[in-house]
Amino acid sequence: VPGPTSLEMARGFRSIRADPLSFLVAVSGRFGDLVSFPVPGAPALLLNDPADARHVLQTAARNWRKETVQYAALARVTGPGLLASAEPSWIEHRRLAAPAFHHQRLLAVSDQVRAAARDAVGATLDRSAPAHGRTVDVAALTHTIGLDAVGRALFSTDLSGQAQALLDATSDAAELVVRLGRSVLPTAAWTPTRTNLRLRSARRRLDSGAAEIIAQRRARGATSTHGDDLLGLLLDSGMTDGEVRDELVTMVVAGHETVAAGLAWTLMLLAEHPEAQDRLRAELADHPGPVTLLDHRDQLPWTRAVIDEALRLFPPAWALSRRSDAADVIGGREVPPGTLVIISPWLMHRREDPWTEPLAFRPERFLDSGAGRSAYLPFGLGPRLCIGREFALGEMVVVLAELLREHRVTVPAGWSRPRAEAKVAVHPRGGMPLVVTRTGGG
Ligand code: HEM
Repeated sequence: VPGPTSLEMARGFRSIRADPLSFLVAVSGRFGDLVSFPVPGAPALLLNDPADARHVLQTAARNWRKETVQYAALARVTGPGLLASAEPSWIEHRRLAAPAFHHQRLLAVSDQVRAAARDAVGATLDRSAPAHGRTVDVAALTHTIGLDAVGRALFSTDLSGQAQALLDATSDAAELVVRLGRSVLPTAAWTPTRTNLRLRSARRRLDSGAAEIIAQRRARGATSTHGDDLLGLLLDSGMTDGEVRDELVTMVVAGHETVAAGLAWTLMLLAEHPEAQDRLRAELADHPGPVTLLDHRDQLPWTRAVIDEALRLFPPAWALSRRSDAADVIGGREVPPGTLVIISPWLMHRREDPWTEPLAFRPERFLDSGAGRSAYLPFGLGPRLCIGREFALGEMVVVLAELLREHRVTVPAGWSRPRAEAKVAVHPRGGMPLVVTRTGGG
């Protein structure tokens, strides 16, 4: 299998670390859909053929486990929670958590998510803002909403008291996890002692935040059941407090940064494409009653298409990794047990086939009958598909509705896009400054 040489990897080390997204695009442009990285031992492959990705993540998922540096690093923060666990027993925790994401439940927590969005929008945007608008970092705004929505909808808890501590700890943890996890691109060096110490401190802060949430709920719940939100389900399930804590930290880490980044990019694309934004505002104006977490399914086709297209161009989860348990065949070649594969939604969503003009923002693609879907995996595929997918799509629609019904976003003078930085999520480096103006509507 073709791929860069050890010498090339060593020479490119700094730029790979600084910008892994560009590195992925460059190697696949040069070597094609199957790229081999020079590592000792079992092969390390980058897969960019949609059929290969489906094979690993779905058809043969049983043989491809999350036993990778990326997930081992994540587990240092979340413990063996739902996202990081490589064990087949992950399915038991998934089954326990699943009812918290069922449709009825999502419908029931729509008000909470809407309130999280409304509060943050209200606090950030002065109602008497001048008619010419003002520049706001919408990435900071969506971050606040993302955390608040997880707290209210999944834990029935107001996280605002601990918000700053949790945000700081998750972003510290995320940064360190990325530093460790980058060694999925096999050049990165470990920087053990300082990183380890900081990871431990981030983990301690997250753990104590989670322990506080659990203690509060236990104090409140004098009866045998703790309610049917996620926290209640976990507490009633017979899990140990440690296991519950791992799942809470997992949901905080997996559930707010991804949505926040996805929303920031969506708002940027809407600011760059005023006609798409007007159409979205018109669709929302026609929508009867408040938007719920399920309306993305069939009530608001244009809004949903905009989100789908934004998650194509800027998929927050930019790399998925797996390791094989058994020999298998990838791209017509036999690979031994222990083979590492990296599948990058960022890369796959930029393929010319099936995405014509892949870099163009064209929500219409998603109004058509499933064109390109085989090469679309912002939430993964198969048994480890994102458990928060419906929640995330619903939340994104609700937040766009709250923000854009009465406001317009435009790009500031002298606009240039923030750089896409690959941390745990692909996020806009330095924030997303957009001009927000009241439309006078609503
Ligand atoms: C798994 C993306 C929002 C919780 C995943 C995976 C992806 C993903 C790609 C699969 C990883 C893999 O196969 O290696 C996203 C994106 C989101 C989002 C792009 C937002 C736009 C959320 C939310 C939550 C969440 C809101 C929870 C509240 C999880 C969990 C898993 C997961 C627990 C592991 C599921 C399992 O393995 O059974 N996510 N996610 N995610 N996500 Fe999300």
